[in-house]
Amino acid sequence: MCHNCSAVLGAAESVPVSAAPSRRAVARLLAAGAGLTALAACTPDGGTRPPSSSSPSATSASASQAATPSSAGSTSAGPETSAAATEPGTAAAPAPSAAPTPTSPAAGLAQQHSLTDPASPWLVVNKHRPLSPADYVPADLIQPNIALAVSGESAQLNSTTAAAAEQMFATAAGDGVTMTLASGYRSYGTQVATYNSYVASRGQAEADTASARPGFSEHQTGWAFDIGDGGGACGFQPCFAEQPAAVWAKANAHRFGFVVRYPWMFHQITGYYYESWHLRYIGVEAATDMAAKGIATLEEYFGLEAAPGYL
Ligand code: DAL
Ligand code: ZN
Repeated sequence: MCHNCSAVLGAAESVPVSAAPSRRAVARLLAAGAGLTALAACTPDGGTRPPSSSSPSATSASASQAATPSSAGSTSAGPETSAAATEPGTAAAPAPSAAPTPTSPAAGLAQQHSLTDPASPWLVVNKHRPLSPADYVPADLIQPNIALAVSGESAQLNSTTAAAAEQMFATAAGDGVTMTLASGYRSYGTQVATYNSYVASRGQAEADTASARPGFSEHQTGWAFDIGDGGGACGFQPCFAEQPAAVWAKANAHRFGFVVRYPWMFHQITGYYYESWHLRYIGVEAATDMAAKGIATLEEYFGLEAAPGYL
C-alpha cells in the first residue's frame, strides 16, 4: 500500500538533466532517489514479482550511492513486471539510425553487428530507437537451464542469451552467489500490460523512468533479462545493488557478454534510472571492451545520441 505517492512523484520530476551534475544537482538527485525508493514500494505486486521492500536500507542505499556516482547505487524505480492493463501506450518515434559510426569504439572490434536489427546482439533500442517491427518476436526463444523465479514467456530468452546466462549463473554459483531469472522475454502485449500498470500506479512521467513503452523494451528481444537473488527482499529495488547477485554481476557479467544496461547516473543517456538487475547481452568481445575502456552505456559505446526521453 502506498501512502506517499504524490510526494514521491514530485521529487522524481525534479531530477536534473545534466550528465555531470553540480553539487546542487546531486542534492536534488538525493532527494529524488529517496523519493523513488519509496515509490518502488508503492508498485502493485505483479504475478511474477518477488516481494517488494520499503526497508530503511533501501533508502540509505540510494543516499550513500548517490554520493559516489561512479559506483554501485540507485535512484531506480521498482519492478518491471505486472499483470494489469489493456491498451497500447506507444508513442510515435523516428526510424532508428543505422550501423555503427566510424568513430564508434566498436568499429575496432573484429566482428561487427547491426545496431538496428532486433536479432542482432548489438541492437540498441532506447527512447529514440524503437524496435522494428514494433511487435518483433525472437525466432529462437528457449527456456535456459538456470534457476527460475518466473514461468511462461518470462522464463525464456533467445538462444544465444540463454547459453550465456547458463554459463554466467553456473559460474556465479561456483563463487557462492545465488542468481535467479526474475524476468526474461516479454512480448509486445506483455509490455503493454507492464507499462500501463506503471502509468496507472505512478502516472506517465514516472512510468517512463522505469518501464519502456511497448515496442521500446529490450525484454522484447530476448537479449535482456532481470536477475534476482532467490531471496526477493530487494527484488527490483534500489537495495538490490548491494546484494551479492548484483555486486557479482556488476564485476563479472562482461566475461559472459553482458552489461548492466541502465547504470547509475546515466539516466540522461539511457533514459532510465539505475537498474542493477537488468542485464543485456552484447557478446563477450564488446562487453569486455566496454569494461576495459570504462564505457558505461551502449549509446556512448556505439556513438549514438543520448535518449533521455521519447521524441
Ligand atoms: N525497465 C526496462 C527499461 C524495460 O521496461 O524494458
Ligand atoms: Zn529489465
